This record gives sequence, C-alpha cells and structure tokens, in this order.
Amino acid sequence: MLTLSRLSDPAFSPHSLNKFASTMACGNGYIGIRACHEEDYTQQTRGMYLAGVYHRAGRDETNELVNLPDVIGISLQLDGEPFTLLAGEILSWQRELDFACGELDRRLVWRSTTGKRFQIDSRRFVSLDQLPLAALQFSVTPLDDAAHISLSTGIDATQTNSGRQHLDEASVQVFDQHYLQGVYDTQDRATEVVISASCRLNVASENCFTAKNRRLNCHHALVAHKGETVTLEKIVWVTHRSDKTLASADFAQNAMCELRRCAAQGYDALRAQTALAWQNIWQTCRVEVCSDDPQDQRALDYAVWQLTAMTPAHDDRCSIAAKGLTGEGYKGHVFWDTEIFLLPFHLFTHPQTARSLLRYRWLNLAGAREKARRNGWSGVLFPWESAATGQEETPEFAAINIRTGVRQKVASALAEHHIVADIAWAVVAYWHATHDREFMRHEGLTLLMETASFWISRATDVNGRLEIHDVIGPDEYTEHVNNNAFTNFMAWQNVHDALKFMQQFERSDNAFVQAAQDFLARLWLPSPDEQGVLPQDDTFMAKPAIDLSGYKAKAGKQTILLDYSRAEVNEMQILKQADVVMLNYLLPEKFDREQCAANLAFYEPRTIHDSSLSQAIHGIVAARCGDTAQAYQFWRAGAAIDLGEDPHSCDDGIHAAATGAIWSGVVQGFAGMQVIDGELHLAPKLPEHWQHLKFSLKWRQARLDIYVEGATVTIDSTAPVTLTLWGENLHLTGSDLPFVGTATTEDSSDA
Ligand code: BGC
Repeated sequence: MLTLSRLSDPAFSPHSLNKFASTMACGNGYIGIRACHEEDYTQQTRGMYLAGVYHRAGRDETNELVNLPDVIGISLQLDGEPFTLLAGEILSWQRELDFACGELDRRLVWRSTTGKRFQIDSRRFVSLDQLPLAALQFSVTPLDDAAHISLSTGIDATQTNSGRQHLDEASVQVFDQHYLQGVYDTQDRATEVVISASCRLNVASENCFTAKNRRLNCHHALVAHKGETVTLEKIVWVTHRSDKTLASADFAQNAMCELRRCAAQGYDALRAQTALAWQNIWQTCRVEVCSDDPQDQRALDYAVWQLTAMTPAHDDRCSIAAKGLTGEGYKGHVFWDTEIFLLPFHLFTHPQTARSLLRYRWLNLAGAREKARRNGWSGVLFPWESAATGQEETPEFAAINIRTGVRQKVASALAEHHIVADIAWAVVAYWHATHDREFMRHEGLTLLMETASFWISRATDVNGRLEIHDVIGPDEYTEHVNNNAFTNFMAWQNVHDALKFMQQFERSDNAFVQAAQDFLARLWLPSPDEQGVLPQDDTFMAKPAIDLSGYKAKAGKQTILLDYSRAEVNEMQILKQADVVMLNYLLPEKFDREQCAANLAFYEPRTIHDSSLSQAIHGIVAARCGDTAQAYQFWRAGAAIDLGEDPHSCDDGIHAAATGAIWSGVVQGFAGMQVIDGELHLAPKLPEHWQHLKFSLKWRQARLDIYVEGATVTIDSTAPVTLTLWGENLHLTGSDLPFVGTATTEDSSDA
C-alpha cells in the first residue's frame, strides 16, 4: 500500500482557525471533536457533537446538534505568562492529521515574551474501536531554563451553539484525585449526556479542583527543570442516553468504570488499537492513485477519512448531517445529501452501513406520513431537513437579504419534494448492489410504495396529462415551478420501481397497481430538443440568461444574492447547482452520451456552482461523456471546496456531500462505474497525468479489486461476477481471474 497522506495546517493563523478545526476534526461516526487548539482564541469555535443528540433551544428554533461541554481546552501558564500564539514568537511549527491512525498532532517551539523558549506538543485522537473514547496528550518542555508551569483543564459546559444553551448541568464530581465527571441533561430532559475524564501528569505537581460557573477543572502547578518534559494525559469517555431504564447513578458509574479501564491502558496502547481499526478501513476502502500531483491522493484519503468519521454506522436511528460531526452548519440536519452523495461510498464498501442509513428513513416514516397528510397528500413526504425524528426541521426563515432588508422565507420544506424520489432511488441502488431480499421485502418495499403513493397523489391532472406543479428541483435558485424535469423523471422512476418490486416480491394491492399504472402512462416527462437539451421546467427556457462569469469565479459564496433578490434570480436562467445534469447522472439508462453532453454544454454556463453539490456531479457526467480533462477540472474544484486556499470555506463544518463526491468522482467518473438496468458497468479512462488507479468494490457476494493502468484494467474478484467492461459483457469465474482487459482506441479516445 502507498503511504497514507497527512493533512497539514501549514502555519498558525487566526484567520484559518475554524477552517482547520473543521477539516482536521477527529471523529468516529459516534462522536466528532473539532480540531481546535488547546489554548483559547476568540475567533475559534470549539465543538464536540454526538450523532443523534439534538435539542430545540426555544421558541422559533429548530432542533440542532448539541455542542457539548468542551474537553479539549487546556490553559497553560509559563512563569505566570498565559501561553498564546498571538504573543511571543513561533520558532517552529508542525500540525498534521495522520490519516493512518487518526491522530492529530501539533509540535511547536515558542518563545515567550520574556524570551524563554518552550517545546509545546500535543496529540489526540477519537477512537475508532471504542466509540465513546477520546484521548489527548499535552506536553511542555522548557528549553532554556527551569520554569513555573501551571496547567488547567477539565469539562467546560459554557459551550453553546452560537449562544443557544441546550444542556443543564445535573451534577459534577471528582473521584480519586484524577477523575472528573459531569452529568448533563438536555433542557427538555429527553437526553442525558455523561462526560467522564481522567487527567494525569507524568511528574509530581500541586493539584486542586474547582467547579464554578459550569466549568469543572483540575489545576496542576509545578516547576520543571530545563529539558524536562511535563506531559498531561487526558482520557475522555462520552456517553448519552434517551432511554432512562437504568438509574442515572448506575449509568454514570458504568461510564466511570469504562474510563478507568481505558485510563489504565494509557494513551499509546489506546492509540495502537485505534490505528488497527483505521488500518482495516484503509484496506477495504482506500482508493489509490498514482498521479503527478500528490494533492489527488490526499483528496481521496481525506474523503475516506471524513466519510468514516462522519457516519454513525453503529446506530440506524441516526444519519449523516450536512457537515458531518465537524460543525454546527445547517444545525446538524440531514438532507438528500445522505442518500445521493454519501450512500454510494458506503454501498460499495460497507453495504451494511448503507442499509443502516436507509433504515434511518424507514424508522422515521411516521413523521413523513404526517407531513404528507397535513398537506393533503398520501404516502410519505420526507422532511427536507431532518434530525432525530422524522419531523420537518427546516428553519422557516433564512438570513435577512441585505439588499431588500426582508427576512427570506425558506421554501425548501414547502416544495423541495424531490427528496422523496431520491430516497426511493437509494433503496433501489441498495438492492442492485446487494440483492438483500430481507431488506427489500420489509423496509425497501414499504419505502418504495409509500414514496410512490405520495407522487401519485401529488400529480395534477391537466387536460388528461399528469403534471407536477409548484416544486423546487435540486437547483434552489429556481423556485415554485411546474414540471421540473428532475422531479418528474425521478418521480416516474420511483413509481415504476415500486410496481416492479411489488411484482418481484409478490406483493398485491390492486388499487395501488392501477393508480401507479395510470400515473406512469400519463405523467408528463419533458422531452429534449433536437440537440438533446432537456428543459429544466416549464418556464426555464423562456427566461433571460445573463453573464455569470463574475459570480462563477466566486462559486460557493452566493454573491449573486448581493446584486439580485431571490425573486429576480428566479426569473433568470441561473442555476445554483446541477439540476438536469444531476438527473443525467442519477438515471444513466434514460439519457445517451450525446444528450448528456448537450445538457452539460447548455446548463453549465448557466450554473454558478453556489452549492458544494454541483461541480463534482458535472465532473462525473463529463467523464461519462469522455471528456476526462474537463472532468478532472470539475473534480479538483469539488475537492478544493474544503481543501483549497479559502481560509473560511468551511468554518462551520466540512461539506459532507462534496466529500462523498470526491470518492464518487473517481470511482463513478474516471473508473466509469455505473449501474445500468441493475447491472455493473465499468469504463475506466484516467486523467492524462494519472499513471494508475486502484480500488475495491463490494458487489453482491463479491469483493472486486480493480486496477487501472493506462488503457488496461485488471479485475480480481472473490466470487464469480457479471459485469460490462467498455460495453462488453463479461461473466468472470475462478479460472478467468484475475481478468485483464484493454480499451480499444475508441473507448479511450476523447469526446
Ligand atoms: C444545497 C442543497 C443541499 C444543502 C445541504 C444547499 O445549499 O442547495 O442541495 O442539500 O445545501 O448541503
């Protein structure tokens, strides 16, 4: 295996504190801890989150992912001078996240304002094998002279979500001179969070504890000799529960037992265990590329790291927030991002996790049924944004438009209904990749039929033709339109799949079948023009287009809304993100290469890419059209959303969907992996400066190992497999494996 990349924070800067706090956050799908420095900075937003722990702070608020009491902060005084990188001088600096073992590591030499030098190192990780566990070490070495050192750390419950406090402090306690514990309740008493921490120094010190103003702290003071390293080791165990069957004291005591067990093992032993767990992830999920540009491999490692760190694979009651567990953006809510951008990675690497993500929707059917019913429709209308239950969490209002001064209503919850079909699409994708009959018979079919029922009731009869009115497609700059092509095609597919799987699983419901057949026969599916361009909706083509180059140069910043109101944007051919192109990506069997290329050519100049969900999808469609050079540009632009130079690109959390798209852009783009009519297709064509590409895929019973070098592909498989390679159907069994195929000139030629 090639050496794994590291992500580095090249220099201390108060401007990029929050960006790196997001991109270098440690997580394991259960807990996420932002990569903040131990010492405080006013600009720095600390954050620790537990998947599924949401709370609503008050009137006119929605549920949000609770920012928990902080355990990372350490205040250090050296000869009475507070340590801060805003004073003194940084003589050397290194800060890295090591993807191989998940450890975040900072080493620096600092000269205090009095001229004394100190080596100050810290490292920490969140355990991948013991989900409630996090550990850190913080060491100080006086380099020039003896020094008075005082260190304070503990559990700081003054943390809020931008001022909103979700937790009441139920109790704080100290045990045996080394252990601290805080018990907190969400203000609605629905969830209890127990944070336990052990703090130990490697040398003798004067110690005391304080509990004041929501801060439980232990303080150490000592004199260290020149060259002596003082190390604080802090082991943390974070648990929560909503089920209160166990007495609170017993629950807290159990947590303390686990903490003592881990603390006895110590940082290095715990780190070795988590490194093994990460090794397992890299062995199954790594996408290896040999490229002239090392940033390509780094982006892929970053993606797999984040996709693992953000996903609550352990609990089907939670799904993935739009910022993972790295920040408070979008209040920790779950969007279609999960099914469309994040599920594919899991589906083809750990299908059980994809199943768990789909079960989250299934477990939340009640809320979706209620939303449909309240609006007068049948079946299920999934919330545009959701949290722990199936209820709609989209805030009613967005920020004030500073041009009009009006608080903007968020229309997505009212009309962005395509999420219903997106979830159905993901159910079918799961079926194709796994043939999991048990899931399909139970959760899968229910999801398909209830989503289909929604569409059947959602359609409007216009002189015998069924139309879908007043929707928002993926392009959120075009609101309240009729017959958005994406929505109509996806809805048609949803109903079609429901019927197909009902038949396959011998489920009968005559009334439903009749209604579904009628819907499929009469639903209006917009047709492409002579060039193959599909109209985005009924009115889009009649709207004026404007030059968007200035806005495209600042993609992601929504600068168009500084010049035009939303209502004005709505009346122009301006896309926030892929819409028809998104449809081309999701339903490859419905559109040929020429049509995809025509849509790309027509819509891309009209798309600002103000959403992080846009560029990478354009890249995949461009790759499928054979334009690898353009695909690579889009892919790199997608990766740069979090990894690029902009110091504020992800202050409030990473862009989870864009991270999924880094993986998809390579596997579904450059390797040409597609599922067409339920069957696996591969058509690799690498960017010119990539010498080879290697990755694995789970496909039904098999694990496929795929290696692409130039125009040659080698496929190995743990079980017989049927697939189509560059248009040629292959059935590979033991004696054919590993199989080596070479592209014809036509397969590898440019579009
Ligand atoms: C995009 C949506 C996306 C949401 C969360 C919005 O800006 O337009 O498509 O679901 O962000 O990532």
